[in-house]
Amino acid sequence: ATDEYVTVVVLGASGDLAKKKTYPALFALFKHEFLPPTAQIVGYARSHLEINDFHARLRSFIKTKNANEDKQLTAFLANCHYRSGQYDQAEDFQQLDAYLSDLEARFARPPQSRNRIYYFALPPTVFVPVANNLRDHVYPRGDHAGWARVIVEKPFGHDLESSRALGRALAAKWNEHELYRIDHYLGKEMVKNLISLRFANVFFASVWHRHAIHNVQITFKEPFGTEGRGGYFDEFGIVRDVMQNHLLQILTLVAMERPVSLTADDVRNEKVKVLRSMSALDLKDMVLGQYTASPDGSKPGYLDDKTVPAGSRTPTYAAAVFHINNDRWEGVPFILRCGKALNEAKAEIRIQFRDVPGAGMFPSPLSRNELVIRVQPNESVYLKLMNKEPGLSFRQHIRELDLSYQTRYEGVRIPDAYEALLVDVLRGDQANFVRDDELDAAWAIFTPVLHQIDAGAVEPEPYSYGSRGPAAMTAFMETLGVARDRQEYHWQGKPT
Ligand code: BG6
Repeated sequence: ATDEYVTVVVLGASGDLAKKKTYPALFALFKHEFLPPTAQIVGYARSHLEINDFHARLRSFIKTKNANEDKQLTAFLANCHYRSGQYDQAEDFQQLDAYLSDLEARFARPPQSRNRIYYFALPPTVFVPVANNLRDHVYPRGDHAGWARVIVEKPFGHDLESSRALGRALAAKWNEHELYRIDHYLGKEMVKNLISLRFANVFFASVWHRHAIHNVQITFKEPFGTEGRGGYFDEFGIVRDVMQNHLLQILTLVAMERPVSLTADDVRNEKVKVLRSMSALDLKDMVLGQYTASPDGSKPGYLDDKTVPAGSRTPTYAAAVFHINNDRWEGVPFILRCGKALNEAKAEIRIQFRDVPGAGMFPSPLSRNELVIRVQPNESVYLKLMNKEPGLSFRQHIRELDLSYQTRYEGVRIPDAYEALLVDVLRGDQANFVRDDELDAAWAIFTPVLHQIDAGAVEPEPYSYGSRGPAAMTAFMETLGVARDRQEYHWQGKPT
């Protein structure tokens, strides 16, 4: 991609997402030469900002490690421009277009085509007017006009109907191949690794089905609460914030059939099939929770957050079990769990295999094999297995085959998810972006329960800040037949 000319327009450049994710990711790509060196980055937002103030803001969010990086940052900022304007005014977008054309005249070297990326770091209320204005007034035109790509991130509506309305509004002006819907979990190293693990290894491929696998657990835990972001969070809740997108995306990659090829549509065709093989979720298949203050009172409860409406029943913890009604997976529970204000930070996929038949001949109780793919922190893949205790004993204990990245790939830099996804956009690869029909199928699964939850039909179970989650989880997991290790075991991977 480095021999093309591209302008990246960051809409909502003065907001949180832009400062925390978009610009740091763009800088990292610049630094590692994944962004064409001539690429210009134009921030656009409503606030009037002097360019120096804008650069100062960006500096405060981009960490540099040494003098060389300081120099690179200065060079990067020289390519970062800022324009202010409204989101619904055609003239403002016409001026933006003139500004971009001017940059293209200065920086693109004919015959390079002039491409434009529009990154929406925007509140969803302005997605449609901005998309329309961009298409009408800021679309590449004239000699050397290149491609245009729109990057947009959740919330894509709040249920099936609103998501469809948004989809229709965007589709009125933009083609699906121009729309890059981000789910940043798809840019994470270990999530991207799933396709390789599954389809480039004959031994995983041969046990990847209901005859060998008892259950699949996909877990997301955060050790902090909403902390002032409660106003936004309360409108969505943990199911929309994490489960319907991040965890469900992982589920589809774990469950899908082998794609015909690795091209975007072949991969997404398989993911959609998984979603369409799942029934809509039912409240009886869920546990919902909301965190309360920590026992020592040092950490506030969800309802203590001033930005959260009094008496809110919005869940901050959710667990749900799904079934995929196909030949490969019938009868295998897929358990998705996510929560805020828990005891640790962790995201992982745990494949629990079936009990060994005839285990009684062994002197030790046998635990089930588990394949664990640790998404974060400390990326790793480890396989828990029963091993003979070395020496004169004939007892079996749990050990692991461990591919911990920190030791096996010592010193290798794992890029942030946003960097990986931006590279995909530059290359025009949509495989790690959510397609319209995929989004639709995902909403269809969750919309009925979300409406019930929104109507206050469920009183979430309280759990204290810093705990493992609602007490009801123990019984929930037992009912699904999830086995605990039958022996003491602690994974020896790097401490977090
Ligand atoms: C976001 C959610 O999509 O993902 C946040 O809105 C959550 O609530 C975040 O904290 C988690 O992402 P990561 O990359 O920090 O695991």
